[in-house]
Amino acid sequence: MLKALIIAAAFAGAPENPSPTYPNEEAVEPYVQSNANAGASPFADKAMWAAFGGRAGVDRIVDDLVDRSIADPRISEIFRAHDLVRLRRTLKEQFCYILNGGCEYTGRDMKTTHRDLGVQNADFNALVEHLQAAMDREKIPFRVQNRFLAKLAPMQRTTVER
Ligand code: HEM
Repeated sequence: MLKALIIAAAFAGAPENPSPTYPNEEAVEPYVQSNANAGASPFADKAMWAAFGGRAGVDRIVDDLVDRSIADPRISEIFRAHDLVRLRRTLKEQFCYILNGGCEYTGRDMKTTHRDLGVQNADFNALVEHLQAAMDREKIPFRVQNRFLAKLAPMQRTTVER
């Protein structure tokens, strides 16, 4: 009973301070939740979401992207000691939101999230390489991949440190 109340209270507080509301995730500093934090506007139609295979397809792509990134000695160190449960969840939400899958993005903005991580252009390129491999594995058509990558490309400025 007490447990149920605590869980209910945590969910009721979600919009103000979403950080402690997800099981198995570490708390983060409070921030204002907004889809604008996703860093890109969603596609207008449903074609991209369908081409990605909907929720199941996007979830597989994000998990594969994270798996490849943490296994890549070029960039694995950057992910060490970070909350990968939260990363996988918020990345899935972000991709779903941008692909017009009807999700809300509850994560932090790209600049705040990546501040002080020391990400360089080469690291960004390595991550994009893994995303392309993950999309190839899902047989996402090349043209569809490129439309999605064009949405993410401006995030190089907000995730890479100078
Ligand atoms: C288009 C490029 C990128 C996108 C869309 C993206 C997206 C995200 C998202 C949604 C989060 C979680 C936000 C939150 O916790 O509220 C995150 C965190 C993170 N990202 Fe990225 N990211 C990008 C580039 C990169 C690159 C190039 C690296 C390193 C090679 C990287 C490493 C990380 C790490 C380590 C975290 C965890 C930060 C923390 O725990 O505080 N990201 N990213």
